[in-house]
Amino acid sequence: MKEKKFEFQYEVYDDVGELKKEDAELLAKARAVTKQAYAPYSNFFVGAVAKLKNGQTVSGTNQENASYPVGICAERVLLGNAATNYPGISIDTLAISYDSKDVPSDHPISPCGMCRQALLEYETRTENPIRVILAGQQGKIYVVSTIKFLLPFAFTPEELL
Ligand code: THU
Repeated sequence: MKEKKFEFQYEVYDDVGELKKEDAELLAKARAVTKQAYAPYSNFFVGAVAKLKNGQTVSGTNQENASYPVGICAERVLLGNAATNYPGISIDTLAISYDSKDVPSDHPISPCGMCRQALLEYETRTENPIRVILAGQQGKIYVVSTIKFLLPFAFTPEELL
């Protein structure tokens, strides 16, 4: 028997003032775009903004539905936008934030399992690690250097070959 360990490092910032300018601007956009979320059922408004390798930005917000499972997360809305409008262009950095009518937005959230799966395949197919900035409207900010860290033991397309 062997035991193996998976660990990863990430950065923790106390506030936006500690971030480099580009990252601070991207996070400001993610915080602002939460206003475009349609989340009347959860009251949890998620915003995601990505800076692409070509300098363009793309956004996504969660879009809920009265038939609850039809709703889609901000991250996968963003990936659809990126793939459709900028096919083949890698994502350099992705900022994710949220707001809520019910709970304080004072700490980072991390993408749900389904979005991690989608983000990992996007990262792999565009052959470039996606840096992720995670933060509420206030509070600490996490920066993770690749989606791989968020989904150990991932199911990947290689399994289907
Ligand atoms: N949600 C996202 O859009 N992204 C996440 O990373 C977590 C959850 C959405 C789904 C649903 O509309 C609401 O937040 C509450 O779960």
